[in-house]
Amino acid sequence: MRQLKVALAGLGSRGKDTYAVTAKLFPEKMKIVAIADTDAAKVAEVAECYQVPQEYCFHSAEELLAQDKLADVMFITTQDRQHVGHAIPALKKGYDLLLEKPISPDLEECRALVKAAQECGRKVIVCHVLRYTPFYTKLKEILDAGRIGDVVTVMGIENVGYWHQAHSFVRGNWRNSDTTSPMILQKCCHDMDLLLWLTGKTAQSVSSFGSTYLFKPEMAPEGAALRCMDGCAAKAECPFDAEKIYLTNEKTGVERGNTGWPCNILTLHPTLESVREAIQNGPYGRCVYHCDNNVVDHQVVNICMTDGSTISFTMSGFTEQNSRFTKFMGTKGEILADLHENTIQVQKFGKEPEIIDVSKLSDDFSGHAGGDNRMVEEFLDMIREGREPEKSMTTLERSVESHYIALAAEKSRLEGGRIVEMEEIRQNTVI
Ligand SMILES: NC(=O)c1ccc[n+]([C@@H]2O[C@H](COP(=O)([O-])OP(=O)(O)OC[C@H]3O[C@@H](n4cnc5c(N)ncnc54)[C@H](O)[C@@H]3O)[C@@H](O)[C@H]2O)c1
Repeated sequence: MRQLKVALAGLGSRGKDTYAVTAKLFPEKMKIVAIADTDAAKVAEVAECYQVPQEYCFHSAEELLAQDKLADVMFITTQDRQHVGHAIPALKKGYDLLLEKPISPDLEECRALVKAAQECGRKVIVCHVLRYTPFYTKLKEILDAGRIGDVVTVMGIENVGYWHQAHSFVRGNWRNSDTTSPMILQKCCHDMDLLLWLTGKTAQSVSSFGSTYLFKPEMAPEGAALRCMDGCAAKAECPFDAEKIYLTNEKTGVERGNTGWPCNILTLHPTLESVREAIQNGPYGRCVYHCDNNVVDHQVVNICMTDGSTISFTMSGFTEQNSRFTKFMGTKGEILADLHENTIQVQKFGKEPEIIDVSKLSDDFSGHAGGDNRMVEEFLDMIREGREPEKSMTTLERSVESHYIALAAEKSRLEGGRIVEMEEIRQNTVI
C-alpha cells in the first residue's frame, strides 16, 4: 500500500512535537513533504529532522496553501481561530484533512466547513484523540455489549489539574475566549464527543453554570507581586508559583529533568537557564491573579438527551490530577471509568464487580493515554485503504455536534443557566 505524502500546517506542540513524530513511528505509511509555520526556528528544526527540502518549507499556512497541491493529506494544527480559514482552502486544493480541535468557536464556521467538505468530496477527521485510546475503546465495547443495560444517568468529570489550568488557561494560549475559545469548547469538546459516542445518544437540551472563581485580582493573596520572580510575598504557599511549576515540580519542572511539555511551551529547547529566563520575563512568569484571562476555572453542564436520560458533566481546574472520571448508571448495573487509574469497574446489580485493568491491554499509553499515535495511524490507514470516515473513525458532522453542545453550554452559562434547546443551536436560531 502507498506511503502518504503529508503536509503539516502549524509546527507547535501538536504539529511538531506530536504529529510530526509519527513519521518516524510509521515510516511506511507517511512522509512529511511540506511544512509551514510563522516561526522560522520551528520550520528549520522540522525541515532538518524530517529532511524536508527548502522549497517545500513555508512561512505560513497561507503560503503553503497558495501552492499547487503538494501532498495527499494535510494536518492542520494551527491555533483555534485559524482552523477553518486554513481548512477550507485546503479542501478546495484537494487535501483530505486531519484537523485539530476545536473546529472553531464560531457556529457559522463549523457549518461552512461541513459544507465545504461535502462540496469538495473530501474527508475531515477532527482530532478527538481520546476515542482511539485503549481505555475508551474498551469502555465503548463494554457499553455496546449492553453489560449495564440501558444507560440512564451519566456523571462525568474532567479534572483539568491545578497547574495545567494555570499554565494553559490563565497564563497561556487558551486564557482568553476573545482570542481563542471558551473553556467548555476548547478543553471539553472531547468530553462532549466522548459522551455522545459512548452512550450513542442525542442531546435535546442543555443548561450550564460556571465562572472564573479564583484567577482574578480580587482573589490575590496579600503581598502577591505581579510576577512570581519579583519578590512575591505570597510565593511560599502558592501552588501556582511559576518556579514550582516549571522548575521544581517533580513531574513538570525542568530541574527534575522534564524538558518536554509544559516547559517546551516556554522555550523551544528547555534548559534550566532558558526556562528561568522565560519565567523571569515572559507570560508564564505572571502572577495567576494578574493575567488577562477570562475563561472559566470551573463549569458544570447538564444535558437532557432525546430519550429522557441525563448527563451531568463538570470541568474543574481545582484538582491534583489531570485526568477524567465517569460513572455510567444503567438499568442493569453501573460502570466506574477512571482514566487516571486506567481501570474500568463493571458492577452488574447484585453480582460481584469486575475490575478491568486497562494498563494490561496495551504497552503504548504515550500522548493522551495512547490516543495520539493511534489516531494518526487510523487516519493514515483510512486514507490509504480508501475507507469512509463513518465506517472507520468519526465524521465531521459528529464532531460538529460535540461543538454544538459545548457552545449551547457556553450560551446557557452566559445567560445565567437558561435551558438552551439543541435545535436552537443546530438551526442557529439564537446565536
Ligand atoms: N487534540 C487535542 O487533544 C489537542 C491538545 C492540545 C491542543 N490542541 C489544539 O491544537 C491546536 C494547536 O495547539 P498547540 O498546542 O500545538 O499550539 P501551538 O501554539 O504550540 O502551535 C500552533 C502553531 O501554529 C503556528 N502558526 C500560527 N499562525 C500560523 C500560520 N498562519 N501558518 C502556519 N503556522 C502558524 C504557531 O507559530 C505555532 O507554532 C490548537 O487549536 C489547540 O487547541 C488539541
